Amino acid sequence: MTDSRAMNAAPKTTRLAEYEGFPYAVESVDLTFDLHPTETRVTQISVWKKITAGVTSLELNGKDLKRISVKIDGELVDESRLVEIDESLLIRQVPDAFTLEVVTQINPEANTALEGLYLSNGMFCTQCEAEGFRRITYYPDRPDVMSSFTTRITADPEYPVLLSNGNLISDTKIKDGRRVVVWEDPFPKPCYLFALVGGNLAAERDSFVTMSGREIDLRIYVEKKDLNRTRYALESLKRAMAWDEDVYGREYDLDIFMIVAVSHFNMGAMENKGLNIFNSSCVLASPEAATDQAFQRIEAIVAHEYFHNWSGNRVTCRDWFQLSLKEGFTVFRDSEFSADINSRAVKRIQDVNFLRSAQFTEDSGPTAHPVQPPEYQEISNFYTLTIYEKGAEVVRMIRTLLGPELFRRGSDLYFERYDGQAVTIKEFVGAMAEVSGRDFGQFMCWYEQPGTPRLQVYMDHDSVTGQLTIQFDQRAPAIAEIDSHKAYLIPISYQLIDRESGQVLVPETLFELSQTSASVTHEDVKGNPVISVLRGLSAPVKLEMTRPVADLIALARFDDDGVSRWDAIQDLYIQSIGHLLKDPDSPIDQALIDLVCELIRDPQMVQDPACLAEMLTLPQDNILWDIFQPGDPQAILSARKQLRQTLADGASKYWKILFETMTPEGPYQPEASAIGRRSLAITALTYLAKIEQVDTILEDLFNNASNLTERFAAYRIARSDAAPHLSDALSQKFLDGADTDEVLDLWLSTEATNERTATIERVKELTGHERFAWTNPNRVRAVLGAFANRNVKAFYSAAGYRLLADSVLKLDAMNPQIAARLVMPLCQWARFEPSYQDKMKSELRRIISQNLSKDLFEIVSKSID
Ligand code: BES
Ligand code: ZN
Repeated sequence: MTDSRAMNAAPKTTRLAEYEGFPYAVESVDLTFDLHPTETRVTQISVWKKITAGVTSLELNGKDLKRISVKIDGELVDESRLVEIDESLLIRQVPDAFTLEVVTQINPEANTALEGLYLSNGMFCTQCEAEGFRRITYYPDRPDVMSSFTTRITADPEYPVLLSNGNLISDTKIKDGRRVVVWEDPFPKPCYLFALVGGNLAAERDSFVTMSGREIDLRIYVEKKDLNRTRYALESLKRAMAWDEDVYGREYDLDIFMIVAVSHFNMGAMENKGLNIFNSSCVLASPEAATDQAFQRIEAIVAHEYFHNWSGNRVTCRDWFQLSLKEGFTVFRDSEFSADINSRAVKRIQDVNFLRSAQFTEDSGPTAHPVQPPEYQEISNFYTLTIYEKGAEVVRMIRTLLGPELFRRGSDLYFERYDGQAVTIKEFVGAMAEVSGRDFGQFMCWYEQPGTPRLQVYMDHDSVTGQLTIQFDQRAPAIAEIDSHKAYLIPISYQLIDRESGQVLVPETLFELSQTSASVTHEDVKGNPVISVLRGLSAPVKLEMTRPVADLIALARFDDDGVSRWDAIQDLYIQSIGHLLKDPDSPIDQALIDLVCELIRDPQMVQDPACLAEMLTLPQDNILWDIFQPGDPQAILSARKQLRQTLADGASKYWKILFETMTPEGPYQPEASAIGRRSLAITALTYLAKIEQVDTILEDLFNNASNLTERFAAYRIARSDAAPHLSDALSQKFLDGADTDEVLDLWLSTEATNERTATIERVKELTGHERFAWTNPNRVRAVLGAFANRNVKAFYSAAGYRLLADSVLKLDAMNPQIAARLVMPLCQWARFEPSYQDKMKSELRRIISQNLSKDLFEIVSKSID
């Protein structure tokens, strides 16, 4: 047990209501690093000034630090004036203005939590958000203390590249080939944006000329072997820089912007000022070593971190309860970027699908919390889908309510007024209120209340007079405490179309539902109106509306909103699965089969192949578990398989043609329209494999594809039940060709999830693979994350739960953040039938009986009581 692990007994809770400003201002911080794998010395010289009268002591944060010395104005501070408790150091009787000099020693090599300064493949790197800076030196580790930083780095010649935030000031040779480099960041920042990198790295370089004509030096630093996989990220960066100028009027500020790829990283990437640090899986891409999905993810993450330079860095958060101020807004910004660069409809369908399957699940489970949480034990646990995805939806609603022009004026006001400050969500919404003259009082419910509100829609149409009344009722989230729940302001976008012709009867309208119930009337509505409601998912709510099959079919065929079309066919699938769960012998509605045939016979009906591919993809487990509660995951799995088989059989004439016509010709392009065609071709091939022998097609695709997307698809399809005699051979060949970690992870996750071969034993065997390492989060996610989240057959069993619990406990001792994330699937026990619940809960009880990290304890204790 290291001292970084807390006893389970007394977790400290931090509360928004108890926020107090820090009593000192830090005018400047000078950091000197003497890099060494096990004994790195850090010297901090900082200038302080009291800003709150009556205070005489200074409280700093520090964790796992060896304290060498503390001086004030050059004088050693006597031990009697120093009090060290938990993660803080109190220095008593400090003057009103003074210079502090602190020397600490740390051990990067022993740091497996990957917070603070650590080593990844022999390269020094840092991760300070949210509270990692306290593992480097004693400092007020909170975002509202902003200062300008200078970083001086000394290291042996085996670390030729030494980087930090800001602009390079000097690079000097000293004795024994050692060097000293100095970086200076003129923009005041909180310490969570501090970064340092030291290693033997190679750089891919480019430049970007900003809208005011400044030339910015762009660099991506990687291990030498990866230099051939940096181009796409660099191009994505330039696209993101141009987009933020065009759409938000935001220009880059320093002279240099650097990205560094590291192998060991808890998250995807981090927006440190001028020196973004990325999980290598989120930067490196080449046609042979990244799938289309990886290319798109890289483009989005590079943009996301770049956009933080304004939404997060120039204007930062006052405290971590405001996390969504930067994350929700920045996710909204990156999703709009992706929509503009690629296909808007597809991007929105993917986001809505993710929100519903993952965020709605979180929002109805034991760790549900508002976008602005009122309290936390461990802040690392609050980098959640609610903060990110729901937070982005809330910003999207603001734009929907204001319209694009006012929204842009609000964002301009926000960035200008609060530049260089640490602010709250109130300031953001306040800027939007000011430019629009709107009252956002009721709207704040979206930030303050947990859970997913429900919307019911009733229609009454008099076919003689043409009068049509639509009634909207909102119901509190299922988890809401009824007394304290307030009604939401729900922007509802709707349109009416004719069931037979698809003709628009009432064009798109925005209705703002602020009451519990309200109705709207339209006159002279002819024909058979079908409502397309919550178009584009205009609000993150659950639609509770039993829609007739004929209406859903009309929406799937005719609606001009991609999300509504997709949503309609998803609803048809869900209804069919519901029937199968009640009676496995019940036939699938012929109308659904006919619809699928119609769509794939004439793919032009859906303009975008990628949209069609999304429409042909059956709802994920999470969506079904949310609807059919308490569910039997194995029964739901077989019902979905049965539906898939029926659709494969029912449209058997068309799958092959679709596969052949969609496969793009010519050299590989990771660009939206080619990606869409490949995605539809692979979807078609997956169905085709359910009805006929596809061995030759798969072998041909595997051996001759110009890209990893198709090659990987061939292996994956063969590995499922489609081609048993090819399965082992392609698996081995795919592994043999896995010369990057990213391709290895695709192999590991496929091997850990493939229904036919991924037994508990097989998953255990994968954790013993020579290229597996418990200390690398990407490997852990590829095997155990994939197993727990995507292998229903093996995971939802007593032995599956036990394997996950054992792994979580093992990981908790090395990397608490990863352990706390990995345990989540077990915490969702309440959605399942009692026989599953009992086994899941007994593993959670076994976990909590151990001595756990704060991270894991908070999650598990909320899930059982
Ligand atoms: N600031 C976060 C990274 C982070 C989160 C670091 C928590 C430390 C603790 C970064 O901007 C981020 O949000 N990254 C996302 C990817 C993004 C595209 C949503 C991630 O890492 O998953
Ligand atoms: Zn972010």
